[in-house]
Amino acid sequence: MIVLKEVRKEYTSKKKTIEALKDVSLEIQEGKIFGIIGSSGAGKSTLLRCINMLEKPTKGQIYIEGEELSGLKMKKLRLIRQKMGMIFQHFHLMNARTVEQNIAFPMKRKRKFSLFNKQKNQQETSDMYIEKRYTKKEIQAKTDSLLELVGLSDKKGMYPSQLSGGQKQRVAIARALANDPKVLLCDEATSALDPQTTISILKLLKEVNQKLGITIILITHEMEVIKEICDRVAIMEGGEIVEQGSVLEIFTHPCKQVTKDFLCATSNISKIYELLEQNSPIVHLEPGDRLVKLQYSTMNTGTSIISNISKLFSLEVNIICGTIEILQNQPVGSLVVIFKGNKEKIEEAIKALKESQVEVEVMKQ
Ligand SMILES: Nc1ncnc2c1ncn2[C@@H]1O[C@H](COP(=O)(O)OP(=O)(O)OP(=O)(O)O)[C@@H](O)[C@H]1O
Ligand SMILES: [Mg+2]
Repeated sequence: MIVLKEVRKEYTSKKKTIEALKDVSLEIQEGKIFGIIGSSGAGKSTLLRCINMLEKPTKGQIYIEGEELSGLKMKKLRLIRQKMGMIFQHFHLMNARTVEQNIAFPMKRKRKFSLFNKQKNQQETSDMYIEKRYTKKEIQAKTDSLLELVGLSDKKGMYPSQLSGGQKQRVAIARALANDPKVLLCDEATSALDPQTTISILKLLKEVNQKLGITIILITHEMEVIKEICDRVAIMEGGEIVEQGSVLEIFTHPCKQVTKDFLCATSNISKIYELLEQNSPIVHLEPGDRLVKLQYSTMNTGTSIISNISKLFSLEVNIICGTIEILQNQPVGSLVVIFKGNKEKIEEAIKALKESQVEVEVMKQ
């Protein structure tokens, strides 16, 4: 488990101090895919750099598997750091080396660590970790298996310039896995890729998470990415985590405006705001009508909400736009509808929806 306790990071230059992280507290469970979403400058990369100790927090503690990082000796720190792989938006491959050489590089450069059990029952100390070089054979076998995992066995002799963006990111993933990390940190790993390639890379990351049990922390500014593979998500704004929860919770019950804005950007619901602004005939209401946005998961309602509401309250329900998708095996809907009918019945219907955990927002009346 990774735990952050009131982590603060300030950058000071001349007379100005920038608070990139403002007392961020967070728990990331082992084996999960944890998404962090936020706009540019929210502090996402700073948070990742603090987790892998590229940056030292100004204040606060970071625990990895129970060990507080700031108190560790260099050798132990190096060991923990080696257990964290990282991939980036622009791949950061070595252009003069082949695919195979890129993947093998961390194994050649670094040494593998192993526990040195001097005596049974002896308390574990950082001195008990010894370093061993990988043999050529070990490097070859590991590189081959990683090439297979990322689906690039036939490209091993090629150079990065001969690869597509998606293939380059596959090489970067394989390289990040070369030291058998327990955690993979992904900083906007799909932001430079087209939507189809993004999906294929996300699938690969999911496979890495499931097959190898690697915890993934994934930074993005797209809810689509979160929706595709994350278990939990934290939303960052201005150096703070403003909201977090399971992906299902966040998609069905977003609280903060910034979260709602990110969600809106992923569905066609955002279009409705333009239509309202333009006073489009599509959102024209008769007296007594209500234009309503509904957000729900069928776990909450357990039934078909639209037909039920229509029947129970004798309402006409016109669906204007919306999306229904499967998140963590649950259908999750975002619908904009017009309720037509008796005014009191409409009020009753809205009350009943809210009672059954459907988020209801009256957009126009
Ligand atoms: N080395 C640095 N020196 C000074 N300020 C920095 C440094 N690194 C980051 N910052 C500032 O800290 C804030 C958070 O930056 P960070 O890179 O973490 O944002 P981000 O959420 O990753 O943004 P993006 O989505 O654009 O990558 C920004 O205001 C940035 O200008
Ligand atoms: Mg960043």
